[in-house]
Amino acid sequence: MRTQVAIIGAGPAGLLLGALLGKAGIGNVIVERSSAAHVLSRIRAGVLEQGTVDLLRSVGCATRLDAEGLIHEGIDLAFDDSLHRVDLKQHAGGRVVTVYGQTEVTRDLMDARSASGHSTIYEAADVTLHGIDASPYVAFRSDRVDVRLDCDFIAGCDGFHGVSRQSLPAAALRVFERVYPFGWLGLMADLPPVNDELIYARHSRGFALCSMRSPARSRYYVQVDASEHAEDWSDDQFWDELRRRLPEATAARVTTGPSIEKSVAALRSFVAEPMRFGQLFLCGDAAHIVPPTGAKGLNLAASDVHYLFDALREFYEEKSAAGLDAYSTRALARVWKAERFSWWMTSILHRFPDQGEFGERLQLSELDYLTHSEAAMSALAENYVGLPF
Ligand code: FAD
Ligand code: DHB
Repeated sequence: MRTQVAIIGAGPAGLLLGALLGKAGIGNVIVERSSAAHVLSRIRAGVLEQGTVDLLRSVGCATRLDAEGLIHEGIDLAFDDSLHRVDLKQHAGGRVVTVYGQTEVTRDLMDARSASGHSTIYEAADVTLHGIDASPYVAFRSDRVDVRLDCDFIAGCDGFHGVSRQSLPAAALRVFERVYPFGWLGLMADLPPVNDELIYARHSRGFALCSMRSPARSRYYVQVDASEHAEDWSDDQFWDELRRRLPEATAARVTTGPSIEKSVAALRSFVAEPMRFGQLFLCGDAAHIVPPTGAKGLNLAASDVHYLFDALREFYEEKSAAGLDAYSTRALARVWKAERFSWWMTSILHRFPDQGEFGERLQLSELDYLTHSEAAMSALAENYVGLPF
């Protein structure tokens, strides 16, 4: 097989890049390790920045998002037994976020791809990358047949555990990493959310987040030790722990019931530099991870894709490699700002094993300052709604 751009991974990064390239008439094939059903079964992000929504609109994949996505103009921070609202719209020049699940984004992109006729190979086994320096190709097995896919470029959109980054010589990459000693236990339930807007709660027992997917579907998270397993938590234990960490009046309003999913996500900050090596370009979680507190991971994948698509279009339409040469520097400038924001949100809201009473007081003082200073609320809001691409 031969194509212009071989895309590894059919997560949001790979599917969005495929949609943009397809629309511009640039040939591409997506090679995905799992089945489509498995990709859709992973419950992850829920908050989309305006830039991400605009990209989805530009490829005609926002009909359902525009109909069903929930526009959020503010968030609540919970501490000291009360809620403190931050008006995002007011503090971020009229910009807002949209609550719409990653599963739904992925489904919309998959449906559009099936209709477009561009090829996606699911359940590709033993995917390997070759000739990254000059003449790249991807090898894999599909339905027990060995396939070689030659291409001009490879886009590594295969997430943190993917093969793309691991195909680079160790000396070619510089890695920056921080692993947090806790994770998030998430619960999804077909029950009305406790609040119209998201609540990020700091409590001496640990962080909690009240989110949603629709007016009838709640998504909640509680900070747990990194060694915890979702199977060890009954729904009742989860609801009890969540309510303990919320202001009393809010806790009293939580509608509880059976969950439809529970899972634990580890928290990590990670950046691999550079994001380009020869003809291979890394995008999204393949190159960087943020802790989920700032809701930035999927949105960063989208901004990487925007930069890479721009560069590839320039290459094919204008015969210029300038954009490709600038890709890593351009993408990393935005990545590091999101790394900083996500680290900061994590550090003011979570319980750290070594923080002590001094650390607790600093967190409370930071939150008090944050919710009473126009300047601090503006800094939070402009990052939360997303820095410009
Ligand atoms: P992925 O979604 O990981 O997709 C990579 C794809 O590559 C997968 O389909 C995988 O099967 C495939 N693959 C892997 N290895 C191979 C291989 N060897 N060969 C072929 N294919 C391969 N982000 C936000 O912006 N907002 C949020 O609110 C938010 N909340 C989150 C909450 C949780 C609990 C978690 C865990 C994450 C959250 N994120 C959030 C982060 C977001 O989900 C990720 O950043 C996003 O999925 C990254 O997309 P991606 O396409 O780069 O990678
Ligand atoms: C969700 C996840 C996040 O990481 C976040 O900051 C906000 C919402 C969610 O899954 O709904």
